[in-house]
Amino acid sequence: MKLELVDEAATLALGAALALGAALAPHVSSGMVVYLEGDLGSGKTTLVRGWLRALGETGPVRSPTYTLVEPYVLAGVNFYHIDLYRINQPEEVLDAGLDECFSGEAICLVEWPDRGKTFVPKPDLRIRLALCGLARQAVIEATSERGTQWLITCKLLAANS
Ligand SMILES: Nc1ncnc2c1ncn2[C@@H]1O[C@H](COP(=O)(O)OP(=O)(O)O)[C@@H](O)[C@H]1O
Ligand SMILES: [Mg+2]
Repeated sequence: MKLELVDEAATLALGAALALGAALAPHVSSGMVVYLEGDLGSGKTTLVRGWLRALGETGPVRSPTYTLVEPYVLAGVNFYHIDLYRINQPEEVLDAGLDECFSGEAICLVEWPDRGKTFVPKPDLRIRLALCGLARQAVIEATSERGTQWLITCKLLAANS
């Protein structure tokens, strides 16, 4: 599914729409892995901000570029916002203890997942963002049965289901 995101508010709104999957279907969302792909500045962190704010986060949602991971607990669900842009070797995923983030019931939102190679589990949802003039384009793809259920729950696939 392809969406035009005309401004920052639209990217935040997409994040908020995706967050509904977690709120409405916790059994589906447990242990979900979401890949956020796209160039620097394409809106990955903005989308995560919209996602977490929709679930009640009132503090800042900062890019984890330097910390690698920022944890959140929202509505009783653990979230890990991960950004692998800065790692040099895929093994650094293990060195930083991020495998623990992936092993439990938390929802992991991962920027630059390809940098972690096989140390990052396969995604349930893949969101690709691209610059499109001043706006952005998003391509959303479910890559597991759970991911498909998630999108249906969010009503994002209502027209196709
Ligand atoms: N749909 C959009 N249209 C225009 N600007 C956007 C849009 N979405 C996000 N932005 C802006 O793009 C900039 C970079 O966003 P960011 O989320 O940090 O990107 P990334 O995490 O992919 O590097 C921010 O200034 C943000 O406000
Ligand atoms: Mg970012």
